[in-house]
Amino acid sequence: MQQLEIRDLVVHYKVPIGTIKTLFDLQLDIEKGDSIGIVGESGSGKSTLGLSIVGLLPPNARVKGHIVFEGKDLLKMQPGKMNGIRGTGIFMIMQDPFNSLNPVKKIKDQLIEALQVRYSRNGEKAQKGKLYDEVLKRLRDVKLPDPEAIMDRYPHQLSGGQIQRVVIAMGLLLEPDILIADEPTSALDVSVQAQIIALIKELQDRYRMSLLFITHDLSIAYAVSEKLLILYGGRILEFGKTEDVINNPAHPYTEGLLKSFPRGNYKDGKLYTLSGMPPLFTSMPDGCVFNPRCPYAFDRCYKEEPELYNYMDKKVRCFLKHD
Ligand SMILES: Nc1ncnc2c1ncn2[C@@H]1O[C@H](COP(=O)(O)OP(=O)(O)O)[C@@H](O)[C@H]1O
Ligand SMILES: [Mg+2]
Repeated sequence: MQQLEIRDLVVHYKVPIGTIKTLFDLQLDIEKGDSIGIVGESGSGKSTLGLSIVGLLPPNARVKGHIVFEGKDLLKMQPGKMNGIRGTGIFMIMQDPFNSLNPVKKIKDQLIEALQVRYSRNGEKAQKGKLYDEVLKRLRDVKLPDPEAIMDRYPHQLSGGQIQRVVIAMGLLLEPDILIADEPTSALDVSVQAQIIALIKELQDRYRMSLLFITHDLSIAYAVSEKLLILYGGRILEFGKTEDVINNPAHPYTEGLLKSFPRGNYKDGKLYTLSGMPPLFTSMPDGCVFNPRCPYAFDRCYKEEPELYNYMDKKVRCFLKHD
């Protein structure tokens, strides 16, 4: 059995000018211990996917489909029950991590609480002093200078990079079954990024956590994940083993992304050499979403949207990879 099954997931946002259709018929299976990199340009729907899984979409979102975790459909679950899963079942390090912290509690109390949640799940008991030490150790692991001082602060007294690391530490203390990390190192400098990514990988292996690692940076996804999902305009364009996707890109979009790869560069910003802009959700092209930027587009691509076809050992949304 899969650990998590996503079927026919569709997410719309209601906005004053109408409806923004953000995710389109998304299918994904997560097996225990998987590490999946979710790569896409800004606005492609990556955060929406993560928030759907963890049940934290904003109130103007409308969601359809099924997200089945351990045999239960999370989208049909009462909000109270979902609280029991959020945390040690599925935890998300949000792109804006400030939202994951309680503004009126000290960092130490919040992290100790997270740790207690894990202890109680595992039926273990621990002394307060032991909990404190374990939390402190994790803060050291995420390379926070002067962690003792950080423990005594409130969230608003920390910088963005410090908050990001506190929330990563929280995720790691919880040891969830599935960890979703949404651009978790974007506010950190390159050397710290690399150390934290290595730490997430190490703990993922040790505890057989499943990892969904969301990033706009293909080189980070390459370093972290065994499977790669390429998201564009709310659709999966390609999905397969990371090595395979990188070495034999099947979708023209992936091919374009890879033109600036591999360089091992963690430079932010202009990583892609693709011309044109990603689609706006208010004006999606007819046919294939990628047709305005595709060098191979032909008649059919402007009329009909391709399905996500099986191609070699991958899934690819492109007519060229299907008869
Ligand atoms: N709360 C919201 N209300 C309306 N539109 C939203 C909201 N959140 C995201 N969107 C829109 O949904 C699309 C996908 O957003 P998002 O999932 O944040 O993409 P990504 O994480 O890949 O940058 C974007 O067009 C964004 O503007
Ligand atoms: Mg995002």
